[in-house]
Amino acid sequence: MGEPSLPSVVVVTGTDTDVGKTVVTAAAVALLVGAGLRVTAYKPTQTGVAPGEPGDMGEVERLTGAATREGARLRAPMAPRPAAALEGGSLPTLAHHLDVIAHLSARHDVVVVEGAGGLLVELTDGGETLADLAAALPDSGTVLVARSALGTLNHTMLTREALSHRAIRLLGVVIGAWPREPDVIETTNRDYLSALPEGLLGAVPQGAPALPPDVFREEARAWLPGLAALAGLAGPAAPTRPA
Ligand SMILES: Nc1ncnc2c1ncn2[C@@H]1O[C@H](COP(=O)(O)OP(=O)(O)O)[C@@H](O)[C@H]1O
Ligand SMILES: [Mg+2]
Repeated sequence: MGEPSLPSVVVVTGTDTDVGKTVVTAAAVALLVGAGLRVTAYKPTQTGVAPGEPGDMGEVERLTGAATREGARLRAPMAPRPAAALEGGSLPTLAHHLDVIAHLSARHDVVVVEGAGGLLVELTDGGETLADLAAALPDSGTVLVARSALGTLNHTMLTREALSHRAIRLLGVVIGAWPREPDVIETTNRDYLSALPEGLLGAVPQGAPALPPDVFREEARAWLPGLAALAGLAGPAAPTRPA
């Protein structure tokens, strides 16, 4: 068996909404672009954003400079199916998302796909979820973004179980916002997550989205050493600036 390697589609899910999926997506894109790869990001369903406003992919573009793609956009700040129902519209099918990702994959080394909310949020009118999308992608792996605080171990283990139940490859866990002064709960949570078989891919420091984009791009590799290793980047990254 060879070394574990980076799949051509990296699916970013989270233990919940607002855990830092977008920021981790941006850090992953920045790291992979920095490794010389052709990288893009895709958000199948963006909710809570009006036409013309920047959504999650706008944030990824701002932080990384990479071009991205958005699928359906719905105005209501809620899960895609109820948001679409409220607007009286329909959602793209799973086959459509698979086509878009295949099209992007033909032109890029890696496509990073950001889910909406958590793993089992329904993305299509047929009730298919990000888990169904990940399971249908031939060469994909999932990054699970988790909070640092109390409650995160249960949420992380629930999502791991759902992934394993569907035989979806889990690349590892990332802590979305790691505080400058972690408390004992956060420190023991991090130790626990690091000891999981797939390990902790890294942690994005608190305040990362407010960094100047050039600093964000420079530091992303140091935040996600596990992902850097999967991408074949050996050795430690440049030391992170003091906070
Ligand atoms: N490391 C971090 N430091 C500070 N704020 C963060 C960090 N990660 C995420 N945030 C903020 O928390 C909110 C939710 O993060 P986001 O990445 O959009 O989560 P999700 O995509 O999971 O909904 C955003 O306002 C974002 O800027
Ligand atoms: Mg997001």
